[in-house]
Amino acid sequence: MAVEKVMVIGAGQMGAGIAQVFAQSGFQVKLNDIAEESLQKGLATIEKHLSRNVEKGRMDEADKTNTLNNLETTTSLNEANDCDLVIEAVVENMDVKTKVFQQLDQITPKHAILASNTSSLPITDIAAVTERPEQVIGMHFMNPVPVMKLVEVIRAIQTSDETYQTIAETAEKLNKTAVEVNDYPGFAANRVLMPMINEAVYAVFEGVAEPEAIDEVMKLGMNHPMGPLQLADFIGLDTCLYIMEVLHEGFGDSKYRPCPLLRKYVNAGWLGKKSGRGFYVYE
Ligand code: CAA
Ligand code: NAD
Repeated sequence: MAVEKVMVIGAGQMGAGIAQVFAQSGFQVKLNDIAEESLQKGLATIEKHLSRNVEKGRMDEADKTNTLNNLETTTSLNEANDCDLVIEAVVENMDVKTKVFQQLDQITPKHAILASNTSSLPITDIAAVTERPEQVIGMHFMNPVPVMKLVEVIRAIQTSDETYQTIAETAEKLNKTAVEVNDYPGFAANRVLMPMINEAVYAVFEGVAEPEAIDEVMKLGMNHPMGPLQLADFIGLDTCLYIMEVLHEGFGDSKYRPCPLLRKYVNAGWLGKKSGRGFYVYE
């Protein structure tokens, strides 16, 4: 199937990045959010990154104009009625996501593929609330989307080979590399990454070292581009906590228990970079 028209749902840090890479690659993109303010913020972020690309000689003014022309914003989900592919990137909450998928199942053309950018929630369960489970799939982009090469493509137990093939080819058109994984809690990326981040929070909780020291150890000692606590702030501490909860519940193994300090920060509204405070303070 040829994908031409795409809707991205949720204009937060992931949705805006996903919309940008699709529009840059020549797809017609509608960026949707329940909040007009989020759409304006998302669009401003995209414009800023495109201008940076022009400044750095990675694209010319005409590419920037074409990208922006490929992009429209809307608060109406009904506008997905002519889309070939929808990528959902709303908050990491199963109830919110299943409601969006049930609505999309009614609105979108019968051939459309419904994808989720979820970090950890079961694609199989999301597919099961629709009447087209074989056309539901995980298309998990990494943050920051315009920079990171990986798209983790998650097959629900119901996903058809044709759907997988279309999504893998679409990822290639975005100049990304698709890696196929099966649907288990946290998939592959967060099954491996999040326990490391959670362990770093435990190290702070138990007084092993200050956050700066732990991050320095991992940056200088392991060549990680960001330390785990800086990365947790970058991802969002709420998202990190939700993912640990999915791993803990999904495997029933105490090795995945979220650190109480992580929960305390989230309850305090210290969500990391996006809220101005997490393990670090942001101006
Ligand atoms: N959007 C677009 N471009 C961005 C960006 C953003 N949010 N942030 C940085 N960039 C670009 C910058 O423009 C810069 O390029 P130029 O200077 O040439 O314009 C380039 O990336 C490098 O940025 P910086 O020099 O500012 O900083 P850096 O060298 O430290 O790189 C980084 C920034 C790419 C984010 C790097 O620190 C990094 O790779 N960090 C780790 C990111 C990571 O692990 N991501 C995965 C998170 S887990 C996930 O996404 C899954 C999940 O479900 C939670
Ligand atoms: P975010 O909080 O930055 O953005 C979420 C956006 O969704 C907000 O603008 C909000 O207004 C909007 N929204 C909420 N409910 C909606 C609805 N019903 N319809 C339309 N819009 C709605 O979150 P984010 O960090 O961009 O994460 C989005 C998704 O991507 C989550 O599932 C998350 O787990 C996943 N993800 C996050 C990262 C990361 O590093 N932050 C990486 C990969 C995947």
